[in-house]
Amino acid sequence: MTTTAHYQTPYGAFQLNCYPPRPDHPLIAWCSADSLLLAETHRRQASGSKILVINDTYGALCVALQPQALWTDSTLTALALRKNERANRRPQTRIVWSTEEPYDTPELVVLRIPKQRSLFEYQLSALARLLPQRTTILAAGMDKHLSRHTAAILEHYIGPTQRHRGQRKARLFSAVRDERCAREYNGTATYHCEKLNADVCGLANVYSRDKLDIGTRFLLEELPESANAETLIDLACGNGILGLVALKRGIAKNIVFCDESVMALRSARLNAGQIFPQEAENISFHLGDGLLEYRKKPAQLILCNPPFHLQHTIDDFAGRHLLSQCSKHLQPGGQLYVVANRHLDYVRSLRHDFGRVEKFACNAKFNIVFAQKA
Ligand SMILES: C[S@@+](CC[C@H](N)C(=O)[O-])C[C@H]1O[C@@H](n2cnc3c(N)ncnc32)[C@H](O)[C@@H]1O
Repeated sequence: MTTTAHYQTPYGAFQLNCYPPRPDHPLIAWCSADSLLLAETHRRQASGSKILVINDTYGALCVALQPQALWTDSTLTALALRKNERANRRPQTRIVWSTEEPYDTPELVVLRIPKQRSLFEYQLSALARLLPQRTTILAAGMDKHLSRHTAAILEHYIGPTQRHRGQRKARLFSAVRDERCAREYNGTATYHCEKLNADVCGLANVYSRDKLDIGTRFLLEELPESANAETLIDLACGNGILGLVALKRGIAKNIVFCDESVMALRSARLNAGQIFPQEAENISFHLGDGLLEYRKKPAQLILCNPPFHLQHTIDDFAGRHLLSQCSKHLQPGGQLYVVANRHLDYVRSLRHDFGRVEKFACNAKFNIVFAQKA
């Protein structure tokens, strides 16, 4: 059973669910930052078809506003939006992925301030090029997630900025595009990976885009060299580091990179093309909610450093959701290696699907869990 909740807005009341669905979900599908944005948009009597929405979470803004487009990096958001549009008999909002730039010029931008500052700056820099003078950006976030530099960042890229009233622990800002030239910022970071003897890049919203994550490093150190798999899936791949190192070591012949973030998958594609141009035929990419819609042959090996946040809160639900998809995509005898913070216990949930599950290695911060399909 999932909890459906009714969201009362100036545009009507809507039934909204989070995605992925979760019994007794601890989050509701909107927050008071959404409410501030909707109240201000309504006060300005802006027409939906002239509005560009950015970083909606579960579709609360788009379902209410029916904007010209949603600009997002997240496939999970797109899935949530489609479900909530259907439930409320609303037309489908056009989606512009984060790696593209919006092409229609909006009269008003309604933006949820993202968690990653680099994504925020990347988006503002693109908006500064797109927006005519005097166009307003309404931006909002929850107080506890906002940097004290939010207004300064808006001012830096867009123009004169006002910090408006707060309400229910959320804050609204408005910035008006001025006549200055747009400041460039593409947010891509690069680091040198010794294990690949190459540089790897990560676009603005990619996890650990400027350094090797320490959990990932631990998994790479402990991973047996002998796997010799036909196909390996790098599940929740980020910039693709696990799959790329596995390919370099000859652990697998074919690699499938999978992530829900469009920027993550693009980064993995750029890195694979740069480091292994001769292996293009053996490398593929899957954008989606884990392996839910993946239809290719089962693999021999899956590596995963799962997400450990639900929005801004540390939570193992997103990881369990991903790992519950794995056994179906492994051949009999197929193996899964998961690295996770010690306080996140995936052993119990993996026992449900796998014949053999054990702690394979640990250090002061991380466990590596090994699971093998019967
Ligand atoms: C902890 S990061 C690991 C990234 C990379 N494997 C590494 O080791 O640096 C987790 C990744 O999970 C992705 N992710 C979160 N939920 C997902 C889902 N439902 N399906 C696919 N990927 C997901 C995030 O976009 C992020 O790239």
